[in-house]
Amino acid sequence: MENKITTTTLAEMKARGEKICMLTAYDYPSARLLDEAGVEIILVGDSVGNVLLGYSSTLPVTMEEMLHHTRAVARGAKRALVVGDMPFLSYQPSDSEGVLNAGRFIKAGAEAVKVEGGASVAGRIKAMLDAGIPVMGHLGLTPQWIHQFGGYRVRAKTAEAAKSLLREAKELERLGVFSLVLEGIPWQVAKLVTENLKIPTIGIGAGPYCDGQVLVLHDMLGLSDRVPKFVKRYANLGEEMRRAVSEFLREVKEGKFPTREFSYEMPAEEAEKLEKGQEAEDF
Ligand code: KIV
Repeated sequence: MENKITTTTLAEMKARGEKICMLTAYDYPSARLLDEAGVEIILVGDSVGNVLLGYSSTLPVTMEEMLHHTRAVARGAKRALVVGDMPFLSYQPSDSEGVLNAGRFIKAGAEAVKVEGGASVAGRIKAMLDAGIPVMGHLGLTPQWIHQFGGYRVRAKTAEAAKSLLREAKELERLGVFSLVLEGIPWQVAKLVTENLKIPTIGIGAGPYCDGQVLVLHDMLGLSDRVPKFVKRYANLGEEMRRAVSEFLREVKEGKFPTREFSYEMPAEEAEKLEKGQEAEDF
């Protein structure tokens, strides 16, 4: 496809100072809409766990669930780069398990994978890159680490922690990740990291100075209950759904839907025959 977004396109965008847009999608119609709107990266996020599957965190999400959603998204995305988010325990146990699972994402239609963590997963990331699988890094408030972090708290709030995050970001860049998600860190830290890397940074709750921005689609469309400080609601589709469903309910109960306008009609002569037969009790 012409203008297909690749990892090279993203590097070129950073070089030109052009902002990159990434959104999550978990299904075919959303992927198609985002793609047509011009979003450069579609992330099949493990946020599918909280957002769509009703889990209280991303930790229970399985590879099977991620692959199911990745296949649907890949069918809808023609131009955007599709990134599959590696779920908890799909890469942590060993390099070989990480490579095999990353490969399953590629076979399902993803063009890259995202891995949470820095130095502790460097070996895993290198093994995936050696297998020819592009990897997006993810540092800061990495949700698969919440039990170790003690909850969803902003990370890298001290100068020392900021320096350590920058060191990890540089290490990921050195390994060869094509891009880096920065989540839940002060804008000053995101700015420092962005200015010190050649690869593009994509921020979420990381302020305005990243090379790109990502939001969870359901959060920005008003389809989820949670509204963290960094989420801007661009629509309130939740309210619109509630209104539409209430109207359907009322019209069905009152016999106002469906009218003949929404019904199929027999040819007139067949309807007449049917009516006559009915009179003659011809059944
Ligand atoms: O799973 C997800 O949606 C993510 C984004 C928030 C970056 O990892």
